[in-house]
Amino acid sequence: RSEPIEAPEVKSEAAKKVKIGIYFATWWALNVVFNIYNKKVLNAFPYPWLTSTLSLACGSLMMLISWATRIAETPKTDFEFWKTLFPVAVAHTIGHVAATVSMSKVAVSFTHIIKSGEPAFSVLVSRFILGETFPSSVYLSLVPIIGGCALAAVTELNFNMIGKNISFHLSCDMGLAFSLYFSFMGAMISNLAFVFRNIFSKKGMKGKSVSGMNYYACLSMLSLLILTPFAIAVEGPQMWAAGWQTALSEIGPNVAWWIAAQSVFYHLYNQVSYMSLDEISPLTFSIGNTMKRISVIVSSIIIFHTPVQPVNALGAAIAVLGTFLYSQIWEIDLLPTSRAQYAVENVIPA
Ligand code: 3PG
Repeated sequence: RSEPIEAPEVKSEAAKKVKIGIYFATWWALNVVFNIYNKKVLNAFPYPWLTSTLSLACGSLMMLISWATRIAETPKTDFEFWKTLFPVAVAHTIGHVAATVSMSKVAVSFTHIIKSGEPAFSVLVSRFILGETFPSSVYLSLVPIIGGCALAAVTELNFNMIGKNISFHLSCDMGLAFSLYFSFMGAMISNLAFVFRNIFSKKGMKGKSVSGMNYYACLSMLSLLILTPFAIAVEGPQMWAAGWQTALSEIGPNVAWWIAAQSVFYHLYNQVSYMSLDEISPLTFSIGNTMKRISVIVSSIIIFHTPVQPVNALGAAIAVLGTFLYSQIWEIDLLPTSRAQYAVENVIPA
């Protein structure tokens, strides 16, 4: 009996999907650990400009060591590469520090809700700044993804991991109102900055010899150079020294380990996310980034026994369904002929 023979393109398409699936699962798992340590650090040592700088410094050091010991191949770069990378690094720096400031102000899940809107920013920037359009079914699939993710987080704004009792319900407390405002603005700025970063990173990596992993390493190093003077100007060594004494007396030397863990996991999850960005479109990346937030919420429920309400489960299910619809629309409906035709006039995922 003869076995059906699969075409090589079908096999390689399937292998690519498996690879991206593994990247996504690793990206999300590393991000869960990052979120836990990041919030523990920000509660004990509330200096988001410094912790943002340290996470970039740690990633840069890890990559320099990897290149020196040949664990990773050193990229071949020229002046033109670094020049093109500069605006991307500015966007990465702004997106990173804005998200960290946002998370330092209120509950982590508040930032995640606002940041679940990233795919909407991606299509808006593509449409109005780059003049690229998607089929209306793609735009429609974003509604359940973003709405579902927001619903999944909305009732449990007091993640146990934050250790502080900050309620979402706006009270007359002006301090809380300001915190919420800054947190909201930080997350919105981060959304916009990361969308620019993703789109221009993708353009920068396409057809170039620098891999996603090395591209992110170079991005970290350049962002570190950009951020360091601003961190010193906004917070500065005096504040850090005083804050450090308080953290040591309240928590003990463990804070140093938390900072190390937060920094290492920040680099690792971003590195894996860039390895997937090398293979997918910026919009698919933003959707992956939104779905990542569901995994943060679900793991918080499992690890910290956070009470979950039916609306959260419903929201998560809606978001997962929306992502499934998106993948069906973009991967099947537009494949292979119509997608190729579509690419002639519009944007096409990699
Ligand atoms: C950062 O510091 O860059 C943020 O905490 C993470 O933002 P992301 O969840 O979009 O990666």
